[in-house]
This record gives sequence, structure tokens and C-alpha cells, in this order.
Amino acid sequence: MKSSLISDMARSFGLPKLKRAAGVVTRRLPIPQPLLLVGPGASTRLGEAIADFGHRRVLLVTDPVVTKLGLLTPLTDALKARGTAFVVFDDISPDAPLPQIERGIACFNAADCDAIVALGGGSVMDAAKAIGLAAANHKHPRTLVGYFKGLHGPVPIYAVPTTAGTGSEVTVAAVISDPENGTKLVIADTRLVPTIAALDPTLMTGLPPAITAATGMDALTHAIEAYIGQWGTAHTDRMALAAVGMIYRNLPLAWRDGNDLRAREQMALAATYAGLAFTRANVGNVHAIAHQLGGKYHVPHGLANAILLPRVLRFTAPTVTAKLAVLARHAGVGSDRDNATTRSRRFLDSVEALNDALQIPRHLAALQQADIAALAAAACWEADTNYPVPRRMTQADCEALLRSVLPPEASPVVPVKRKRRSPTPT
Ligand SMILES: [Fe+2]
Repeated sequence: MKSSLISDMARSFGLPKLKRAAGVVTRRLPIPQPLLLVGPGASTRLGEAIADFGHRRVLLVTDPVVTKLGLLTPLTDALKARGTAFVVFDDISPDAPLPQIERGIACFNAADCDAIVALGGGSVMDAAKAIGLAAANHKHPRTLVGYFKGLHGPVPIYAVPTTAGTGSEVTVAAVISDPENGTKLVIADTRLVPTIAALDPTLMTGLPPAITAATGMDALTHAIEAYIGQWGTAHTDRMALAAVGMIYRNLPLAWRDGNDLRAREQMALAATYAGLAFTRANVGNVHAIAHQLGGKYHVPHGLANAILLPRVLRFTAPTVTAKLAVLARHAGVGSDRDNATTRSRRFLDSVEALNDALQIPRHLAALQQADIAALAAAACWEADTNYPVPRRMTQADCEALLRSVLPPEASPVVPVKRKRRSPTPT
């Protein structure tokens, strides 16, 4: 529905014009920002704050791993100590499938809740947003897919991220999945931004290095794509550049020593800054391709972004040399004596080096040569209709980018040119 509307409008006005108009609106759209509680113990302080708001009963949305690891305890102890009733719904799995959202809504209604706390990664926070909006509007979440489909805003939502990557604690969107059709569904509404977000690094110390790396590179991709895209504002640029510097300084530390609370806190804050940047300035070609890989092969979102980021940046570089040089300065890469071209090249090299340092593979093991054309077509469509990219990908560009991350054994054999017996007349 959304696609056909966009394609109709695109035919009438032309995509570049349509995107410029969307940029004008997006730059001016009032987007609320949550109150941030930051630091060790922030989830306890959130529990205390919620108790003061006098909610009837709170639905805690999370996943089974969070429950098993006991990460809910500081929050639930604070709620219990202040006599706030709550119900735990810990049925959310990656990509927040629709049937789980439906069960969450049923649980919210059955327990007569009037607020939600999301404690988990991006899927948990997005699920909580969808449950909160559907419950407030008494509508099925499928009918809320698209932009501003709810008459009412969601019930109050509080967020406690347990990974430093997605930025969902400050964004206007909820991405859920429809397992029946194998599609992702996006609900977008500025009222979906949580009221309070608690960034508690003590909840992140148990994250394994591979997840720390992938989620951290997702945050870096948000910051870079928001900065080099065409919808940035002075505020989103500030947020994006701060995030890049913090990620370069702290992601390797958090990866090496998961218990480094200072690095964990800086990463949590950086992911939130990057979220504030991209929720207005949007993302770009890396995300357009990564979403297809997630849908087709269920590749973790952050990992797909991390693998694609250096390749897509090299493709984009000629159009954003000056911006890449600024990113380099904030990342602490290169020297002020370098000219913009040299410094931008150093930044591209540094993204690759960061991936290597975090042991992120250079190729995508799941990618199949036979799928590339369809994946590229879907990625180009997503980028063309949604993202203010600095350099547009053609189908051939995108196929080449995808081929560049094919695992070596799956790469097509380059045919050896045979010598012709007799030259063809020209
Ligand atoms: Fe992302």
C-alpha cells in the first residue's frame, strides 16, 4: 500500500523532487526526545521514577534471555519497593514477529496495564512501541503499519536498552516482522518516542564480544549515514559526529573488556546520539542492502551493516569527500596536514581496520550468487523510495557491491579470455 502510493507519487512528481520535499518536512518535524537517565543504576532510578507516576500496572516487555540473565531485577526491585504493580511479558524474539506482538497486546489488556517498560535490544523496544500504540488505539498492529496511522499516541513507554546499537530508545519507528509473508513492517509515528530512556551500562557487561561488535557497528553506520545523507541538520550533524568519535574511542575497549563500565556507558550514549541523528536525518544504502540480507537470510542487522559499510562508503566516497574528511577528524584518524581527499581515504581505511580489529568478517557467509539480482532490486527500491542517499545506486552498482561481499568460494569464476584464432573484422 505504502509502496504503491509512493510509486504513484513518484511517477507524478519524480523521485528526486519527492525526496527533497520529504527532506523539507523531516527537517522541521517536531520529534520529542526522551528524558535520559545515564550511568550505573539507571534502570533502578527508572523504576523509582515510574513508581512516582502512579501507573495502575506496568507491562514489562522483554525477551527470555534477559529474564534468564536476571537483568530485570534492578528495575523490578525498584518497582516492588515502591509498590508499583507489574506483569512480565518475555516472549519477544529477534525481529519481533507479529504473533508475539498480538500476544503482548492480549497480555497488556488482560492485566489492565496502563504503561509499558521495554527492557532489551532493538526488537524488544520496537515490540513495546507496537504493543503500546495498538493497545491505545484498540487496533490490530497490522493496521498501524505506515506513517501516523493511530488516532491516539501510545500508552507511556519507558525504554531500557541492553545493547548499544539500535537507538530505538530515541527513534520514531518500530520495525516488526510478518513471518507469514517474510516481510518487515514499519510503524512510524513521532509519538512512539519513549518518555524516559535509561542507559544502564551494568546491564551490558555480559554482552559477548561478537554482539558488542555488531551492535556497535550498527550505531556507527547510523551516525555515518545520517551525517553523509542529505537530510542532516546542525543538530543531527552534532549528534552524529559526537557518536562517531565516541564509538572509535570506546568500541574496541568494550569489545576487549566487556566489564569496562566507562566504555559501555560511552557506547550506550553514542548509540543514543546516533539514534537521535538518524531518526531525523535517516539512513542510506548500507541499511537498504542490510535489510534485504536480514529478510532473506536472517543475518543479524549489525553484522550485515558492518560488512557492507566499508564497501558502500568506498562507492559513495567521490560524492562526500569533504564530509568523510570531517568524519576522519572526529574519529581521530589522519592528520590536519592531510588534504580532504587523503583524509577521507584514511577514514575509509579506518572503518575497514575497525572491522578487522573487532574480528568482523569481510564476507557474508550466507549470501548466494543466485539471489544477488533480486536482493539488489529490493535494496535499490528501498533506497530510492526512502533514503536521502548522497550517491544513488543503480541495479548494477548494487549487484557489484553485493558481489564484493560474496564468500570467496561462492564468487563467480572469472572466465579466461581465449585467444581468437582469427581476428574479427571491425
Ligand atoms: Fe541499523
